[in-house]
Amino acid sequence: MAEILVLYYSRYGNTAAMARQVSHGIESVAGCTARLRTVPPVSAVCEATASDIPDTGPPYATHEDLKACAGLAMGSPARFGNMAAPLKYFLDGTGDLWLSGAMIGKPAAVFTSSGSLHGGQETALQSMMLPLLHHGMLLLGLPYSEPGLFATTSGGTPYGASHVAGADNNKELSHVEKDLCFALGKRLAGIAAKLYKCS
Ligand SMILES: Cc1cc2nc3c(=O)[nH]c(=O)nc-3n(C[C@H](O)[C@H](O)[C@H](O)COP(=O)(O)O)c2cc1C
Repeated sequence: MAEILVLYYSRYGNTAAMARQVSHGIESVAGCTARLRTVPPVSAVCEATASDIPDTGPPYATHEDLKACAGLAMGSPARFGNMAAPLKYFLDGTGDLWLSGAMIGKPAAVFTSSGSLHGGQETALQSMMLPLLHHGMLLLGLPYSEPGLFATTSGGTPYGASHVAGADNNKELSHVEKDLCFALGKRLAGIAAKLYKCS
């Protein structure tokens, strides 16, 4: 089985909902499974620390999850046109994996949720791509053969899947946004499965 890591941060649940759709896409590919993992919020040294085990949702990601995966789907809410600090903090701690080259040659794809339509989804997606490129990963987007890229009136970009959550973070994923999350997971898993078989 080629296991694809779906790694995300989500404060209000929108990116988490996307992660689940991406996972469905991954699991639609024969021989592929999705491993859902999240990261804890960042706490300054003067603040309280949280438990190693989250109260709800999937476990926190470890470096072992990254080492073991055949591919990576990574998602974050847009924060000032960037990825959210908790995900960046987790990635900033992966110097050991960078040094060992553990992620080189593995396929990766990114997804984001934003409050507004033109609030920086593309830059947030690209901000997640940068560290993955430094890790030597192979970045995948969504091709325009996906009809949703033309049909969408909310999220969905060639750089990765996206969702417009609205000012109150309460907009559900549209059908098109769901389809594009699914398509991204399926595409990632399809490539990962081929690479996995050959390695
Ligand atoms: C500090 C902060 C910065 C944000 N920056 C942006 C932004 O640049 N563009 C945007 O459209 N939404 C922005 N938002 C809204 C978030 O993207 C939105 O809350 C998020 O998509 C919800 O995802 P979640 O439910 O997974 O937490 C920001 C929210 C916060 C708290």
